[in-house]
Amino acid sequence: MAVPRTLLVTGAGRGLGRTIALDLARCGWHLWLADIRDSAVQDTARRIVNAGGSASPLAVDISDPDAVADLGRELQAAGPLHGLVNCAALADGVGGSPVHELPLAEWDRVLSVNLRGSFLMLRMAAPLIIAAGGGAVVNIGSDAATNGSANLAHYITSKGGLAALTRAAASDLGPHGVTVNTVSPGLTESESAAKVPETRHEEYRRQRALLRDQQPTDITGVVRLLLSDEGSYITGQEILVNGGFVFR
Ligand SMILES: NC(=O)c1ccc[n+]([C@@H]2O[C@H](COP(=O)([O-])OP(=O)(O)OC[C@H]3O[C@@H](n4cnc5c(N)ncnc54)[C@H](O)[C@@H]3O)[C@@H](O)[C@H]2O)c1
Repeated sequence: MAVPRTLLVTGAGRGLGRTIALDLARCGWHLWLADIRDSAVQDTARRIVNAGGSASPLAVDISDPDAVADLGRELQAAGPLHGLVNCAALADGVGGSPVHELPLAEWDRVLSVNLRGSFLMLRMAAPLIIAAGGGAVVNIGSDAATNGSANLAHYITSKGGLAALTRAAASDLGPHGVTVNTVSPGLTESESAAKVPETRHEEYRRQRALLRDQQPTDITGVVRLLLSDEGSYITGQEILVNGGFVFR
């Protein structure tokens, strides 16, 4: 792949998506930043530009097929796209009900963004990446899909589905020179994790092999690797980055 690369990062308005975007921008890649929260994603783009990087903010609801199709047309007109980081998700305050009491509307809401929305973005971006001569998709999962966790059945199912979608898409897109992987963080210090019950934080502190809390920057190196030439023979994998909270 030729440098400079152009990448699309979703969920770049804050948290892990913003941290990933800032890191990739420092590598000199042009970024399209997508988030449902317009002012937040504009703020991320401003930070990148002020630091000497290149970024364009886009207000997009990834669960809206028409909005995603519009985005695809805009990206196609703008030039080659070499990669996608699918990070946007409902991760903030989604827990609360055990599976047998989980309202259907809540299940649908989380699945429609985290799994269906990620699929819509992948389906939109893949032909553009193929047209650019190949590249990489990195989906952001969660180690909760491997470890399980109480009162999060919809979220965990969405992330388990995303890991399965990763394997399916890797099979379909590999022949076209596109890798697809999932990076699954553990509980990470962030705005969304601040709302996770303290007992869950304590569980991570007790069980991690590494004796410090996880930071958003702990996943940026792996994401960068998977988007780089050095990572171009890795595909269909789910890579857990969680300080050894759960091994696989
Ligand atoms: N923070 C953690 O502890 C943790 C752990 C494991 C996995 N993750 C995953 O990492 C990713 C980022 O998590 P975070 O903690 O930074 O969450 P966050 O809530 O801080 O950020 C998510 C971003 O996605 C955006 N978003 C939500 N719905 C959207 C939609 N429909 N369309 C477009 N954008 C939308 C939000 O506006 C927000 O900016 C998520 O995929 C999450 O599941 C987070």
